[in-house]
Amino acid sequence: MPEADTQETKDYYVDVPQRNPAVTLKGSGSYDWGMTHRLARGWGLESGKTVMLAIDHGYFMGPTAGLERIDVNIMPLVPYVDAVFCTRGILRSLFPAWSKTPVWLRASGGPSILKELSDEEIAVDIEDALRLDACGVGVQVFVGGPFETKTINNMTKLIDAGYRYGVPVLGVTAVGRELARDARYLGLATRILAELGAQVVKTYYCEPDFEQVTAGCPVPIVMAGGKKLPELDALKMAYNAVQQGAAGVDMGRNIFQSESPVAMIQAVRKTVHEALKPEQAFEYYRDLANELAKAK
Ligand code: 5RP
Repeated sequence: MPEADTQETKDYYVDVPQRNPAVTLKGSGSYDWGMTHRLARGWGLESGKTVMLAIDHGYFMGPTAGLERIDVNIMPLVPYVDAVFCTRGILRSLFPAWSKTPVWLRASGGPSILKELSDEEIAVDIEDALRLDACGVGVQVFVGGPFETKTINNMTKLIDAGYRYGVPVLGVTAVGRELARDARYLGLATRILAELGAQVVKTYYCEPDFEQVTAGCPVPIVMAGGKKLPELDALKMAYNAVQQGAAGVDMGRNIFQSESPVAMIQAVRKTVHEALKPEQAFEYYRDLANELAKAK
């Protein structure tokens, strides 16, 4: 027989209205608990922003510079990120399963850099994403590309599967070489992905008018870094993107191809989570990089 509750006095706080927990992430107020919980895992609670580390490039580029040895070069960065964006191959073969860092799983693929990149398929079953405890899945969408409809269809199929299990989908706006990365194109692509149900959209920064891209997209935008820039320029880009409405960054080459990736990831954190100005963040990067070099 269970113990009876013998406490004489109880306090129901009858004068205190029950608080409704607020969801602060843009456009995310109507999801089920599991999906919201997965989304929240990868976002910094205080700033409401995220610093994701993208290391999925090998899925079409092979051993990309900086990612040749993920165990050596990337593992030291993981403590400084809010989430990692990677493939299931890398996750299973190289990530310790006791890592507490949330993982977004790359879930589209097919062609290599030797072929037409937009000819992608869904590359991960939603059940495998659940098995891997992913906080979400990411899929490439080529708006304006030769296989535009097919890649949109990949995304909407994953979104339907994601709703069955509470797994959010991050739609990546892939920009072919022939398309301009301007506010008009990125505004079109990000809005299409959100309208079709992506819970998060990843896109490139553009100048001018990036704030119009973020304003026109009803779900959080995370900024992809693109090709390697000098560190100060990459910090400026991350700072500007967040000041202009991005909910964070999902950067790869500008981190892992930096002279000092461990210093760079921490400097990016400062710009995203603490709104540290790029020049100050660069000083922070330089000092930390020097310190780390000396300690070697
Ligand atoms: C590749 C991707 C990458 O995750 C994305 O481009 C971010 O990496 P980087 O900052 O190096 O551009 O989606 O298709």
